[in-house]
Amino acid sequence: MAAAQVSSARREMGVVRLWLLVFITVLPLCYGGRVSFSNQNFEVNKHLNRLNKPPIKSIKSPDGDVIDCVHISHQPAFDHPLLKNHTIQVRPNYHPEGRMGESKVSIPKSNEGNSKPMTQLWHMNGKCPEGTVPIRRTKTEDLLRASSIKSYGKKKRRAIPRPPRSVDPDLISQSGHQHAIAYVEGEYYGAKATMNVWEPQIQQPNEFSLSQMWILGGSFASDLNSIEAGWQVSPDLYGDNNTRLFTYWTSDAYQATGCYNLLCSGFIQINNEIAMGATIFPVSAFRGSQYDISILVWKDPKEGNWWMQFGNGYVLGYWPAYLFSYLGDSASMIEWGGEVVNSAADGQHTTTQMGSGHFPAEGFGKASYFRNIQIVDGSNNLRAPKDMDTFTEEPDCYDVQVSKTGDWGSYFYYGGPGRNPNCP
Ligand SMILES: *[C@@H]1O[C@H](CO)[C@@H](O)[C@H](O)[C@H]1NC(C)=O
Ligand SMILES: *[C@@H]1O[C@H](CO)[C@@H](O)[C@H](O)[C@H]1NC(C)=O
Repeated sequence: MAAAQVSSARREMGVVRLWLLVFITVLPLCYGGRVSFSNQNFEVNKHLNRLNKPPIKSIKSPDGDVIDCVHISHQPAFDHPLLKNHTIQVRPNYHPEGRMGESKVSIPKSNEGNSKPMTQLWHMNGKCPEGTVPIRRTKTEDLLRASSIKSYGKKKRRAIPRPPRSVDPDLISQSGHQHAIAYVEGEYYGAKATMNVWEPQIQQPNEFSLSQMWILGGSFASDLNSIEAGWQVSPDLYGDNNTRLFTYWTSDAYQATGCYNLLCSGFIQINNEIAMGATIFPVSAFRGSQYDISILVWKDPKEGNWWMQFGNGYVLGYWPAYLFSYLGDSASMIEWGGEVVNSAADGQHTTTQMGSGHFPAEGFGKASYFRNIQIVDGSNNLRAPKDMDTFTEEPDCYDVQVSKTGDWGSYFYYGGPGRNPNCP
């Protein structure tokens, strides 16, 4: 989830400089030593009560999740003191695709590029009523996997001084986070892309693999504002290897604010059909059917809130403007692509896959892609970005290749297997 900071080399000829944010995934620690068992139980229950709101109805998903249908005004966002009197925006004032006023589209249709509509696994067992939002219930074991109860759903940041303005190989190997992304820099009010969905293999439970877009503002050192959305496989966060829809936000470079999904107060959900953190089903098969999802994030010019849409018809909700500083204005960078953690547990590069686990050169049906990539410009129009740059730390492990053709607009293939003869 760490955003790779890349800046197009304007000052030095053709050299891509990067500052890589450095995070560490803290291994689950034992509570045994300092906190007694009953104390821990008390803390766990207290935190579960905070995260899990009383449901109107609950749905058991085939993957073991419980989806709670929570009254829209009882969702976690309204625990925030600044939101006590907040009036829920039931729809955005503005939609960059001009869909305002259109009646709700229930199933996202994706008929371009031989890909198929997709849904969430829990839909097999029921629906949440109007006026509620579906929330994945946090379980005791979810909290016990986290390094501390309070850190569940947050990211861990490693305090490391800002690296020099050049690629520092030591830093890269230390951080363990690897990316293969395309990005643009400028002034943006949103972004959109369609990405195919896979179930990459994860070598170690403390690693993850994800594909997402980043909407970024501010500086990477301390006050980065970031809105992120995509799919991820994260055994630490969810306790399994399923591919899940996720969102993330921070307003201080992953330090004190922000979280995944609805695991803290922040995002206000209005949609009763899509649950953050729920398993996406089905996923793409190698040389088989390709399933993709579209994500659009845009800023409402009137209220300043950042909205998110999933598929063609699901407006999920919004991040209120007050959460952010820089993004209160506009985004300065958009990134699309994959990220994995390489913990190099056995002294070699991890075999954790990015995307489909295959390199970009293998193309459709084999490699993972982002297609129809667009940005929202200063006139609030969606359009293809002018120039996308690419960035990857170790192209022999995970790579990215940008192209442009008629049907797919701006697109790129990305990903890779991790460890292989060229990436030992
Ligand atoms: C909410 O409204 C009440 C009554 O109007 C007011 O006293 C209170 O300060 C408001 N709280 C916030 C956080 O705006
Ligand atoms: C996830 O996958 C890894 C190997 O890819 C496996 O060892 C582990 O048991 C799986 N975890 C679950 C919960 O299925």
